[in-house]
Amino acid sequence: MKILITGAAGQLGSTLVSFLFGAHEVIPLTRAELDITNPNRVKETILMHRPDVIIHTAAYTDVDMSEKHADTAFHINAFGTRNIAEAAELVGAKLVYISSDYVFDGMKKEPYIESDCPSPINIYGSTKLLGEKFVELYCSKHFVVRTAWLYGMGQRSFVNTIYKLARSQNEISVVTDCYGSPTYVMDLAAFITELLSKENYGIYHVVNEGVCSRFELAQAIVQEMGFDHVQVRPILSHQFEQSALRPANSALACAAIRMNGLTPLRDWRSALQAYMGNLKQSDEGGLFSGH
Ligand SMILES: NC(=O)c1ccc[n+]([C@@H]2O[C@H](COP(=O)([O-])OP(=O)(O)OC[C@H]3O[C@@H](n4cnc5c(N)ncnc54)[C@H](OP(=O)(O)O)[C@@H]3O)[C@@H](O)[C@H]2O)c1
Repeated sequence: MKILITGAAGQLGSTLVSFLFGAHEVIPLTRAELDITNPNRVKETILMHRPDVIIHTAAYTDVDMSEKHADTAFHINAFGTRNIAEAAELVGAKLVYISSDYVFDGMKKEPYIESDCPSPINIYGSTKLLGEKFVELYCSKHFVVRTAWLYGMGQRSFVNTIYKLARSQNEISVVTDCYGSPTYVMDLAAFITELLSKENYGIYHVVNEGVCSRFELAQAIVQEMGFDHVQVRPILSHQFEQSALRPANSALACAAIRMNGLTPLRDWRSALQAYMGNLKQSDEGGLFSGH
């Protein structure tokens, strides 16, 4: 398959590139190579390559900055996605659009399933939801992959932030009243690889199995590091200043994966353990010292 990837220098984009390389013809496009907000460039590029599949990972992902720069966030996440969806339809490509748990308001007590009604409470979530609607409207062969709390090697994420803090501090304060589904980007990339050959289009929740709070996740990270001296102190969200509201519960249940006979991701604790093992090994050279 010929697979075009947008946002190829990002956390998920770069992981997908290394995952798919060799098995497929991969066209990785960074922001410098394809700015998705330019409709003519998007159309020209996709008409030139005529990919079988487009994996659209590019996004404005700073949740707090999206509150201040709402126009930019909508321009990239919603209208940039519309450009990609229209161009995908022109060449008959399958489109995998990466969306977010932040399309939900967090009021549900259980993990959200694909048929639950989205109702975002911050700008970022609204932009991702509008992106979903454009994908559904403009591209017939689409997968909307909602994922959450991503982490992986070398990029900014909650897991990597806690890892760095735990190396320099004896106490870290983390919120207890925010629940979600941490997801290892390698596991997400493996799932997307499986999805590409399918034709069961629609919305998929794709996260590592299980639910935890940010506090429980931080505790697990410190435990995996073997840093018994680091204390994770529980605090509440209102004690932690952030520009954007976060859903109190944005855990996702992967109902569509099961209903379509696809392979669910492993549980979040095993995935974290695998990642932390890799991280400890590669960080001997100070991989995260600059972040
Ligand atoms: N990270 C998470 O926890 C999380 C959770 C749920 C869903 N998601 C979704 O998953 C996808 C991948 O996230 P990620 O963590 O890999 O994000 P990331 O590391 O921030 O990567 C996003 C990439 O998109 C690029 N980009 C931004 N504006 C662009 C534009 N106008 N044209 C082309 N490229 C542009 C960025 O380039 P620059 O760096 O040069 O701006 C960056 O390389 C996103 O769609 C995100 O909304 C992420």
